[in-house]
Amino acid sequence: MLLKGLIGATLLALLARGFFEAFIQRTSTLQRNFPLVIHFRYWLEKMGAPLRQYLFLSDTAERPYNRTTRSWVYASSKGENNVIGFGSGVDHNAPGTVHLMPSLFPVRTEADHEDFALPPLIGKNRKHPYQPQSFFNISGMSFGALSANAVRALSGGAKKAHVYMSTGEGSMSPYHEEGGADIVFQIGPAKFGVRSPDGALDEKKLVELASRPQVKMIEIKLAQGAKPGKGGVLPKAKITEEISRIRGIPMGQDCHSPNTFSEFSNVKGLLEFVDHVQKLTGKPTGIKMVGGTKQQSEELAQGISQGEVSPDFIIVDGTEGGSGAAPLALADYVGLPLREGLTQMDNALRKYGVRNRTVLIASGKIATGGDVVQALALGAEMVNIARGFLFSIGCIQAMQCHTNHCPTGITTQDKRLQRGLDPALKSERVANYAKNLKKDLFMMLHSCGLKHPGELTRDHLTMVVAPGEIRSLRQLYPYPDDAEAVLAAQWQNIARGENAA
Ligand SMILES: Cc1cc2nc3c(=O)[nH]c(=O)nc-3n(C[C@H](O)[C@H](O)[C@H](O)COP(=O)(O)O)c2cc1C
Repeated sequence: MLLKGLIGATLLALLARGFFEAFIQRTSTLQRNFPLVIHFRYWLEKMGAPLRQYLFLSDTAERPYNRTTRSWVYASSKGENNVIGFGSGVDHNAPGTVHLMPSLFPVRTEADHEDFALPPLIGKNRKHPYQPQSFFNISGMSFGALSANAVRALSGGAKKAHVYMSTGEGSMSPYHEEGGADIVFQIGPAKFGVRSPDGALDEKKLVELASRPQVKMIEIKLAQGAKPGKGGVLPKAKITEEISRIRGIPMGQDCHSPNTFSEFSNVKGLLEFVDHVQKLTGKPTGIKMVGGTKQQSEELAQGISQGEVSPDFIIVDGTEGGSGAAPLALADYVGLPLREGLTQMDNALRKYGVRNRTVLIASGKIATGGDVVQALALGAEMVNIARGFLFSIGCIQAMQCHTNHCPTGITTQDKRLQRGLDPALKSERVANYAKNLKKDLFMMLHSCGLKHPGELTRDHLTMVVAPGEIRSLRQLYPYPDDAEAVLAAQWQNIARGENAA
């Protein structure tokens, strides 16, 4: 009797809903034309992405990161077997495929050999120069975009692995400090954490923050690859009381950071601002940018060459870089990919003779040893990695960072979802990933007869440009005319133990 009643009530509700969709509502054409049944299509549409990811896409087809890459990071982070059997799944003759050139005589690798090569000292003219310990480090992702547990896991893992971690533009949280890792404090145009009520730089706050021993460098964020020309966006769903306090922003409305600094609008002004922050803090201070026109990169290099001031490091972020929330138009259309942006900046600095006054750091979809090698060969001394490290703490590429519904508790402020992420366990995974990445980096170097990442040049890589046609990356991305001399000088520095700086 009860069952009959329930079935009757359900049918009545469906009938009423169908009538509403077909005759009353006007917003959806499909619901007016195909009432009720259209919801099956909506459901299939929603389930399409995860179904493709789990069942239908091949190991190398998925984007942004394919399954082969993600599986390698997952296995490496868990300390599981990360080698493959039978053979490579890469189509080695497909245009765009990059290969590293092996040597007839690789460097002999001892079984328990540790590589002690270090990246260059950064900010050698500052009061507190910084010696990074790792060629790859954790790229800026703000607390707010990330959950407290994610920040805890990353900072704890970074400390164990001797890699540094950038705060991203959301200011420094107690969770960054808790893990004890070296911190790079990022200042975005909104200057969260170091802003005065009128939006200017609060020098007192900056000096206080920078004086903390854990803060090793200051990163001025001009732009980010996923959304050049747009400030950070923190959807209101992710603004908790704590985040509103740390950033100094109201709750209940989306937080849009300004897209540019009010302090400068040209190279001269930028360099003055860099100089000001360097003098205020005494810590190495650099910029984060996205490649645009060649003329623009050259203007920056020329500006550096004309004075005493130089950013201590320049991060070139590729348009393929990730974001917690970005407009599709900017993510898909604006900015140079990493290869082009990086080589263009490297060349500009070489052309104006200032390559040794700054350290180039590359970021943009770098996750494996091969990715790191490629960026270093193209001109970077170091790389930053964001999403690779998120995979190490359990990111499944659900693409929900902007919704507050991240199922893995990483990019959500929902306490229920964060509960599943155990920071202590995940910090071990961060450290394991970093250890395996370092192992792969040096294994690849040894394979081509090199000992120090600074020895990598564009000659060491080739790319298939068409079936049967292969070019070296030096042919595709030529150095400026005097590159031989610059390269020779770099090699001498490495041999003298001065690294590339
Ligand atoms: C969740 C998330 C939050 C991010 N937040 C920031 C940020 O606050 N500041 C910034 O400069 N870049 C931010 N980024 C961009 C990364 O720092 C990096 O530039 C970009 O993702 C490229 O690295 P990847 O390709 O290794 O992820 C964020 C990226 C992600 C995925």
